[in-house]
Formats: sequence, C-alpha cells, structure tokens
Amino acid sequence: MFPSQKSLDKMVIIGIETSCDETSIGILKDSQLAANLIASQETLHSRFGGIVPEIASRAHLEKIAILFRYALEKTGIVSEKIDAIGVTNKPGLKGSLMIGVSFATGLAYALKKPVYHINHLHAHLAACYLNQNISFPALGLIISGGHTNLYLLRDHINLHLLGKTRDDACGEVFDKVGRMLNLPFPGGMHVEKLAQKGDEKKLNFPVAFIKDSFDFSFSGIKTAVYYYIMKHGIKNAPDIAASFQKAITDSIIMKINDAIEMFKVKDFLFGGGVIRNEYLRKKIIEHLSKKGVRAIMSPPDLCMDNGGKIAILTSYMIAARKKPSPYKILVYPTK
Ligand code: KG4
Ligand code: ZN
Repeated sequence: MFPSQKSLDKMVIIGIETSCDETSIGILKDSQLAANLIASQETLHSRFGGIVPEIASRAHLEKIAILFRYALEKTGIVSEKIDAIGVTNKPGLKGSLMIGVSFATGLAYALKKPVYHINHLHAHLAACYLNQNISFPALGLIISGGHTNLYLLRDHINLHLLGKTRDDACGEVFDKVGRMLNLPFPGGMHVEKLAQKGDEKKLNFPVAFIKDSFDFSFSGIKTAVYYYIMKHGIKNAPDIAASFQKAITDSIIMKINDAIEMFKVKDFLFGGGVIRNEYLRKKIIEHLSKKGVRAIMSPPDLCMDNGGKIAILTSYMIAARKKPSPYKILVYPTK
C-alpha cells in the first residue's frame, strides 16, 4: 500500500528506532523534524559497563507507546494524519528490534498506512540530508558504537559498502578506553572532555593501517593504550585521552583521504555517535576543505540513534516509489 497521493513535502512520517539502547520516535512533517524524542537507557546499563540486551528490550517495551503518544501531543498531530511509518529492522539487538517493528507494524495495520523497514546504519547518513542539496555520487562514513562503515552513495537510498572495521568499532574503542581511565559508560564523550585538558603530542599510540583496502582496524590502539596503562597507570589520564583521540582521528583522516583520491566526490557525509566529537569534526572539516570537498556533518542531536533520521530516510524511500514492507515482524539483528 503506497501512501496517499499527497505531495511528499506535506506528509506526516513517523520514524521509530529501538535497535539498541535508545527508544526514539521522530516525526517528519512538511519535510522538517517536528519532533525527535529519545528515551535513553544509559543509566540502566551504565552499572554493567555495557548494554544488557534483555534489559534493553524490556525498557523499549515500557517506553515506546508512551513516547509515541507524547510525540503526537507535543506536535498536535492526530494519528489519522499519519501518512507513513518507518522503523529500524536492522542491524541491532534482536529483542530490541522486535519491539520497534512490532509496534510499527501494529500501528500501520490499525491506521491502514504503509510501513517501511529501514537499515538504521543508512539512516545515520540520512541525518545529513535534512535541508541539504547533496551532490551524488557522494561518500559517507558512519562512526558509531557498533559500526565503522564507509559507503559510496549513488543516491539518497542506494548505498554501496566500501569498507568496515575488521575488529572493534571506533565508538566501542572510545568506550573501552573510557573504562580503562575509570570514566562512566559510555565513555566517548568523557574521553573527549578529558582530552581537552591533555597534551595530544605526549604519547604515541600506533593505529593499524590496512593498505589497499577501505577497512579499518582499531583493536591495536586499544591494546597499546591498555599496555601503557598497565605499565604507567593513569596519572596522566588527560594526556592518554588526548593522544588516543589524536591517533584515532589521524587514522580516520588517512582513510578519508584514500577514499577521496579514488572517488572524486564533491560531498562527504558523516554520521554516528562518534561524529559528536568536536575534535574529530573539526579535523575532518579542516582536512576536506583543503581538498575542496564539502564535509556534511550530521547535526549533533541527530548523530546518536534516533527516530528522526529513520523518518528522514523513509521520506526518500517514498520519493523513490519504493514498495512498502509487508505487515510482518521481519528483523535482521547484528550477527
Ligand atoms: O550511533 P550511536 O548512538 O550508537 C550506535 O549505533 O552504535 O553511538 C554511540 C557511540 C558510543 O560508543 C559513544 O561513546 C560514542 O558514540 N560517542 C562519542 C562521543 N559521543 C558519543 N565518542 C567520542 N566522542 C564523543 N563526543
Ligand atoms: Zn546507530
């Protein structure tokens, strides 16, 4: 079932995200985000130092309907006005994905509206589409807690994976280094804060660079930081954080450079939680502007997992006349 014949820029599109530890509902109305509500589970998981899948899915179940109702109230939208629903169905935690897809399917069925299953990684880059005229083909890099993926974007919805991490994801390494430095979970933003007080040239942490491939590897730097701390302790934690952040940033910029040498693009898109890191953003923007490539960064509030970016990508699926998904609970979790 296709959405009504209404023009796309007048549609109300709901985006639902429950792939990991954020329950989120976004509403795209007249091509702008009217709401993007996120119920984070950070405090539920932090005492375990990582995400507990069973706790995550239970928390999604408790929050999702309340959040949806609140989003409608906040925007003054009645459910009959909804034109389409987009929901993350991959990748992520199985139980968590099932809560979102079940809710979306039930809602779509009750309202007799189409539902679109969305790859939440692609949606990380869709956060860059809002109010931007992108020149295709473009390159895109997602740096999140679970993934580090480099894509060639043929258009808004056709993405070709060029490379990914062979071991830990970049955000995961930030979190692990955060834990080594006794910082709260998730450690990424705390490492960044601590790094502001340190000297990035103090320590030299090596990062593996995989030649002739767009793949990344971050476990080497994690091990290097670990051995340094085993030997010297964390007395100079700010220098450790700053030198680690610099090494990671340098290695990402090297890959970005390889990619723009091979694909002569005008635009390079960036999304995912780690892209909130101001240091990394600034270094990437500086580097690309020297090379004449425009860096389009996901706005900081759309970097983390959120329903807004799911609604944005759904609008491009509709624009491309993609067939809606069946009213079935089909999920493709992270293996
Ligand atoms: O995209 P996201 O919400 O989750 C996944 O889809 O995986 O990203 C979460 C990741 C966490 O690893 C978190 O530590 C990291 O993003 N992160 C940061 C910063 N803010 C969040 N990493 C480095 N610097 C930051 N400021
Ligand atoms: Zn994500």
